[in-house]
Amino acid sequence: MKILAIESSCDETSASVLEKVKGQIKVLSNVTATSLKMHAATGGIIPENAARMQVKFIMPVVIDALMKSSKGHKFQTNTAHDGKLAVEILKKEIDSIAVTFGPGLIGSLLVGVETAKTLSYAFNKSIIPVNHLLAHVYANYIDRQEEEIQFPFIGLIVSGGHTDLLYFASHNKYAWLGGTRDDAAGEALDKIGRLLNLSYPAGPEIERRANLLSKASIKFKSPIINEENFDFSFSGLKTEAMRFIEKNTLTEELINQICSATQKAIFDVLIKKTLNAAGIHSTKTILIGGGVSANETFRNEIERKAQEMGIKTLFPNKKYSTDNGAMIGAYALNNFVVSDWKKVSANPNLYFS
Ligand code: KG4
Ligand code: ZN
Repeated sequence: MKILAIESSCDETSASVLEKVKGQIKVLSNVTATSLKMHAATGGIIPENAARMQVKFIMPVVIDALMKSSKGHKFQTNTAHDGKLAVEILKKEIDSIAVTFGPGLIGSLLVGVETAKTLSYAFNKSIIPVNHLLAHVYANYIDRQEEEIQFPFIGLIVSGGHTDLLYFASHNKYAWLGGTRDDAAGEALDKIGRLLNLSYPAGPEIERRANLLSKASIKFKSPIINEENFDFSFSGLKTEAMRFIEKNTLTEELINQICSATQKAIFDVLIKKTLNAAGIHSTKTILIGGGVSANETFRNEIERKAQEMGIKTLFPNKKYSTDNGAMIGAYALNNFVVSDWKKVSANPNLYFS
């Protein structure tokens, strides 16, 4: 069983070919084009610009992913010859096409969804619509033996657009426990980074700067950490950081201090509520995904605290933490629910059903 998976919900355009061999999901190719440099110049994503770039990227990315998946062909130029070869691979080797249908930016989603529908129709392949958020959790299945991940487990999604806690009883049976009431964890990092003039997205630079510190001397409040629920709220943290920045002269040292205090305020509440969820629901495994989960400090801290409670935390390989096509395929291979292309449409406001 081999599938082609397409992701285009935000600024990345990604395609991947995957297969499941003896209970393990293997990525045969994963190609991602990003317009991050363009967004760095504007300090954030301008949706229409992102979608325009994706229109340009989508076919070369799909062709490249198909070619690399089969005998390691290398895509050099976007020639008709490359296209023909990719079509042969798609026709002969691919069983189904998975695609992110939401949530995300409507223009961006449409690029991936309409491409997948066209390929599905033209080459008579079934189509698997995938929820981007669930796929972040399923990135953990890549290169892992299926038995390593035992149900029930807690899923934590920490990305630029979402912060959500879920309880998974089985692949198709899950419950939403809570999420952010305002900004997502990554969004808070990016907004505070912007106040500090750090380049977009700020998460990696905040991590780099926080690591330069030998001793933390300032502290920000961890929002709603003591509330007995699984909700999060990060917009107050941005306000606290903004007030602090307005009152102080920014030196390199102080910027690093703010980075460290911001990270800590966010990670403390994420860790506490995630471990609470695991405790209350008696789960021994936590799967974490989304761009923020690439952060090493966060990984180490939650892993250490979870271990003390006898709980296992799993993270994807860092290249599958941020948006990518492979995680869409990983979800689809575990939840092989095919649809007719006519019934698939982009849903920017998709959440958990
Ligand atoms: O999952 P993702 O690639 O896209 C969305 O679905 O939103 O997540 C992007 C987010 C951005 O907010 C970015 O700042 C954050 O992930 N991020 C990080 C790190 N790498 C990316 N945050 C903290 N530490 C990192 N190393
Ligand atoms: Zn994402």
